[in-house]
Amino acid sequence: RTIDSLGPLAGKRVVVRCDLNVPLRDGIITDDGRVRASVPTLQALVGQGARVIVVSHLGRPEGAPDAKYSLAPVAARLGELFDAPVAFATDTVGADASAKVDALGDGEALVLENLRFNPGETSKNEAERIAFAGELAAFADAVVSDGFGVVHRKQASVYELEQARPSAAGLLIDAELDVLDRLTEKPERPYTVVLGGSKVSDKLGVIAHLLPRVDRLLIGGGMLFTFLAAQGHKVGSSLLEADQIETVKGYLAEAVERGVEIVLPTDVVVAASFSAEAEHVVTSAHAIEQTPFGASGLGLDIGPETSATFAAHIRDSKTVFWNGPMGVFELAPFAAGTRAVAEALTEVDGLSVVGGGDSAAAVRQLGFDDDRFGHISTGGGASLEFLEGKQLPGLEVLGWQ
Ligand code: 3PG
Repeated sequence: RTIDSLGPLAGKRVVVRCDLNVPLRDGIITDDGRVRASVPTLQALVGQGARVIVVSHLGRPEGAPDAKYSLAPVAARLGELFDAPVAFATDTVGADASAKVDALGDGEALVLENLRFNPGETSKNEAERIAFAGELAAFADAVVSDGFGVVHRKQASVYELEQARPSAAGLLIDAELDVLDRLTEKPERPYTVVLGGSKVSDKLGVIAHLLPRVDRLLIGGGMLFTFLAAQGHKVGSSLLEADQIETVKGYLAEAVERGVEIVLPTDVVVAASFSAEAEHVVTSAHAIEQTPFGASGLGLDIGPETSATFAAHIRDSKTVFWNGPMGVFELAPFAAGTRAVAEALTEVDGLSVVGGGDSAAAVRQLGFDDDRFGHISTGGGASLEFLEGKQLPGLEVLGWQ
């Protein structure tokens, strides 16, 4: 169901569920990608003369107001990007929100305070979620769901609210699904998936689902050490999920059976400690404990030989999906692997997709413009779960899955 299915919206109150969950440092937005990605839908609605009420979560507050998770800076940023006045309510469904919704004129927009300041938003109890969704629905003639990054969550504003009023998907969800469908339905080959980030356990589902579908899986980031350990190598004090080693061994064996290449690093950057100033060396991925730091050495990035190998595999592909940084890119000495992978993605002659909050923030922080990639997804967990083939509540409720 697209916005058009809601009929003319001039003068109507439309609650729009966005994902404005942006990274903040000292109240300053460090990556406004999700705010920018939300603008087309909001602009289209305002352009029709709708009265637009924007709702979102930010971070994971525990069901009560918490100033460090206020959406106020995000509302201000939206105001800068927008051709219309954007008001802000200091609560979500309380007196200030009601007054500001009532005062909203045609073609104006209002951002309500963080949904997750209300326990009903994320409650495990369906009745509580329905009750909170009902309070939000009281503001709305129609609902537009456009928070792609949160469609994998069964939460009041993502699932129950959409059932309480006529609802449709916004332009961002539509655009995201267009691209993700190209990854799942007959991707052009070779199809390479690059996985990084710190937790193997977060990625296990997607690895299982991707093995029968891809040509190559490149593994970097903190999770690479669990793969090295599964091959019998020592990893010093690097990140390791010992309880996942057996599962990873199973994947390595399955990959061989299926003729899928799992490409693991041959060299890594090992540091004396977790700090930008730490002494560090490049070493073989199979000799991590043989540096001057011995068993206390920490692997914090893939090495230059691995970067070159990964880059060559990526450039040689027609479809590439990348989720998760290759190293601790926030610290300059350990950013080279992530930069090399990002650079290679910009050179793909085909479809290149950067999936997720961390990877999107990484490429922007490293100075890459969005338009150098085929697509930068606003959804981290959501795009991974989509690729895992899971049914996502926020899409199912809109009749999209
Ligand atoms: C995200 O950052 O992936 C989305 O905004 C969802 O946030 P959550 O993981 O806190 O539900």
